[in-house]
Amino acid sequence: MSRIADEIRPFFEPGSIAVVGASTNPAKPGYNVFLNLAENKRKGLLKAELYPVNPRAKEVLGFKCCPSLKDVPGPVELVVIVVPAKFVPDVMREAARKEARAAIVITSGFSEVGNYELEEEVIKIGRDAGIRILGPNCVGIFDPYTGVDTVFLPLKKALEAGEEMISAPKPPKGRISMITQSGAFGVASLDYMAGHGMGVSRFVSLGNKCDLDETDFLEFLKEDERTDVVLLYVEDIRNGRRFMEVARATARSKPVVVLKAGWSSAGARAVRSHTGAVAGSDEIYDAAFRQCGVLRARTMEEFFSMGKALSMQPTARGPRVAIITNAGGPGVMTVDACEAKGLVVPELSEATRTRLEELVREGKLPPFASIGNPIDLTVSVTDEMFKLATEVIMEDPGVDGLIVLGLHHPPGLKGDYIEAIAELARRSDKPVVACDIGGADMADYVRKKFDEKGIPAFESPEGAAAAMWALYAYGRYLEKVKQAP
Ligand code: COA
Repeated sequence: MSRIADEIRPFFEPGSIAVVGASTNPAKPGYNVFLNLAENKRKGLLKAELYPVNPRAKEVLGFKCCPSLKDVPGPVELVVIVVPAKFVPDVMREAARKEARAAIVITSGFSEVGNYELEEEVIKIGRDAGIRILGPNCVGIFDPYTGVDTVFLPLKKALEAGEEMISAPKPPKGRISMITQSGAFGVASLDYMAGHGMGVSRFVSLGNKCDLDETDFLEFLKEDERTDVVLLYVEDIRNGRRFMEVARATARSKPVVVLKAGWSSAGARAVRSHTGAVAGSDEIYDAAFRQCGVLRARTMEEFFSMGKALSMQPTARGPRVAIITNAGGPGVMTVDACEAKGLVVPELSEATRTRLEELVREGKLPPFASIGNPIDLTVSVTDEMFKLATEVIMEDPGVDGLIVLGLHHPPGLKGDYIEAIAELARRSDKPVVACDIGGADMADYVRKKFDEKGIPAFESPEGAAAAMWALYAYGRYLEKVKQAP
């Protein structure tokens, strides 16, 4: 294990945690941070010893409170700091005396508002004591495997004050890890992933990056056996050379998808006022990402679609996509979306077309089915027909991947086609992604069913196309790496 990975491990897998500023007041972040950890401890998920630290409380959520870090009866490996900025240096000094290894500083009010001196003081204490620091001005860590969860914005908090507190819905255990410079986007991302069938391995919010940054966590995730895909949201990257080295090494074994915000000139200005960072030239970022095999998402939807697909499906051997649908218009939109991403929607082979036309004549496909790419099975489609047509298309040697656009309205579709397509996908080395448009009822159900069966499903043709592009682009990158001397 590299030194940095060894130093980062206590953030996700600490033996003991103290929350300084743990509060009994549900309106305070210090309450919510502690609540997450206390709930996980009670459930038996969090194995680490857990201590609230606050001079004004006797106990917090049933845990005996220590007036200061020095009163904690055992060792403290990870310190979570949720006290006002001016007290943070003192807490860090106490953490140093306690020989802590890691500190998450959730507190705001440092370099992001021009308070550089205070941040420098904190950095120096950490450096002298060998404590690695995450933040300040961050939401910290979420790890569904170890129960470390300092993400302090429980959605129902304000609404349900007075009732039993419930933490924000968080994604289940999975294989996607996320590094985010923006805490607020991070919190929203956890909610998004929880609602879109995406399981998480590790989540980290970087904040001001006074010590640890995206490259450090990427290096940790490179070796992390639990992580298959890394999602990275950044507004700036400070040490470009080291980032490229680590990103290149990581991309050889697992895909890294980046959403780099602030690429327009007004966006770059917004980055400066958000974190004080200088965004730099977007062309340089773009070229650098390409050189080290990092896949760039241009929109939030692409970012999550790409991550989801890469965590669930094999890569595509080429750019040729077949589209099977029961909906003409969305089929055409999917063709456009694929072409816009640089994918190819070719004619089906002669043999495939002949076989499909035979099936129409035999009454095994709808009489008005339009045999082409996309193949439109119309609203007369049944589950069996969907399965039959998919089987034929998957075998076409001119097809590298399949987009299933199974819109939910045809009366003959009972939903069995989803399992049938999933089974065909399992037997094939070609990737399959799905799309169903809609938000109120059936579409949601259909997408969930596809997700459960291992076929990543998306709400729009653009999402499905971005997903397929990522599977192709990453496959192409791996091939290039293999062929390089
Ligand atoms: N040791 C232990 N506990 C201490 C302490 C110390 N040295 N100093 C203060 N405390 C306790 C307080 O007594 C209080 O507990 P109480 O509610 O039981 O009285 C608790 O710590 C919090 O202190 P308080 O002064 O009430 O501050 P606060 O809760 O209003 O604000 C922060 C503290 C950290 C939340 C606030 O300064 C902040 O930074 N907010 C923004 C956080 C943020 O947005 N982060 C980034 C997201 S992307």
